[in-house]
Amino acid sequence: MDVFEAIHRRRAVRRYSPDRVGREDIHTILDAANWAPSAMNRQQWEFLVVTGTKIREMGASYRAIIEEYTKNWDPSPLRGSLSREEFIRFAGSYGGAPAVIVVLTDASDNPDLYKANLESASAAMENLLLAATALGLGTCWMTGPLRDEKALREILTIPDDREIVAVTPLGYPEGTPNDQPRLDQGMERKIRWVE
Ligand SMILES: Cc1cc2nc3c(=O)[nH]c(=O)nc-3n(C[C@H](O)[C@H](O)[C@H](O)COP(=O)(O)O)c2cc1C
Repeated sequence: MDVFEAIHRRRAVRRYSPDRVGREDIHTILDAANWAPSAMNRQQWEFLVVTGTKIREMGASYRAIIEEYTKNWDPSPLRGSLSREEFIRFAGSYGGAPAVIVVLTDASDNPDLYKANLESASAAMENLLLAATALGLGTCWMTGPLRDEKALREILTIPDDREIVAVTPLGYPEGTPNDQPRLDQGMERKIRWVE
């Protein structure tokens, strides 16, 4: 699969088959993440591969967040057309994914370094998502679980000198999520040519 196909095929997947993902595939995906560009070439990202009961613990935390967050739920197309019940079910088990990847970076009080770290780790995250797509695997970039960062730090033993960037389930998709139409598909407003 070439990079353009992977970009267009990638979807936020919120239902997974319980089939395990092989360690070799996970390694291939994280190697792609590791080849992302990074500010000052610091390559300061780190990846946690979470499986088993730890996913259930993470799910309990995320489910509580989503129950609160969706109290006045408007299932607009921009939110992936999930009903509140479907979203809560997804949250409680990370969609039944057999693995969850957590992307970390160095924490920093310096705003410039903070931004550089976050942008570099985000590049790694996108590489990860595209590599997973190319292997027929599903992902969903998530920052919602960070609303209870304390719980994540406790469950996964993440020290304060690491910043939690994002989380994604990883597994074989069950069903095909709807395409989320792009705003301004013709890119008339999103591109400004400057001469
Ligand atoms: C920074 C970021 C944070 C996101 N956080 C969540 C999240 O917490 N939970 C979730 O279900 N989806 C989350 N998403 C996924 C978006 O909802 C999804 O990418 C968007 O609806 C477009 O759908 P697509 O990824 O299928 O194109 C996040 C995406 C990004 C880039």
